[in-house]
Amino acid sequence: MSKLKELIDKERLPRHVAVIMDGNGRWAKKHGRPRVFGHKNGVQSVRETSEAAAEIGIEYLTLYAFSRENWKRPKLEVNALMSLLVDTLRKEINTLNDNNIKLEAIGDIKKLPAKSYTSLMEGIENTKNNSRMTLVLALNYSSRWEITEAARKLSEDVKKGIIDPQNIEEGNIISRLETNRYPDPELLIRTSGELRISNFLLWQIAYSELYFTEKYWPEFNKEEFYKAIIDYQSRERRFGLISEQIKT
Ligand code: FPP
Repeated sequence: MSKLKELIDKERLPRHVAVIMDGNGRWAKKHGRPRVFGHKNGVQSVRETSEAAAEIGIEYLTLYAFSRENWKRPKLEVNALMSLLVDTLRKEINTLNDNNIKLEAIGDIKKLPAKSYTSLMEGIENTKNNSRMTLVLALNYSSRWEITEAARKLSEDVKKGIIDPQNIEEGNIISRLETNRYPDPELLIRTSGELRISNFLLWQIAYSELYFTEKYWPEFNKEEFYKAIIDYQSRERRFGLISEQIKT
């Protein structure tokens, strides 16, 4: 068994880990290959990270697979990412079921190409009874879009007289976010050395620990995931309190 895995304290695991998978293109360039080669190799990292998370007992793993901004990439790359999504979902359904992992998605998924949408919905349907871990794919997602949509839904409910603006509280926003059925991520990982959030889960990461690694996404594997968890466990989470208040 992995030495790093043994160092993980099972009593202090984050319930929800979110990941910004970055650096596929640069990894491919480093190897003198086209960007798409990087995305294809990124699938192995998705597999490893999902397995590692499920094995140690993470309840929710959210992966930023495609942002609303990603449509602006060259058409060839967008098409390749969408086909990769379809192929991967079709190929991996059995593995998800073998590992008792439930697939879900956040984002404006209805606007995905028909084939991608269909295979995503098939994946969600075929894994809905699994219970060990929920793997959430953020697809055609952006946080500002999500918050704007929540504002729109809330305004509609105010207009209908369901909610009095004077009584609006955080919970009214939370229940209208795409992530309303998940706890906030305690840990956010970003690969490839970039120190940015890039419009991902802005509301939900208010108190999250941030972990950045220089590794490009195709280089990220189980051991790298364990490292992130161990680093998270070495931190003290204060939620605005002082150290002494936490220890008593
Ligand atoms: C970021 O690297 C990666 C993406 C935008 C796509 C992530 C997709 C995958 C890992 C494959 C498919 C995933 C699933 C869930 C089936 P980048 O292209 O931004 O790299 P760069 O910053 O080096 O250009």
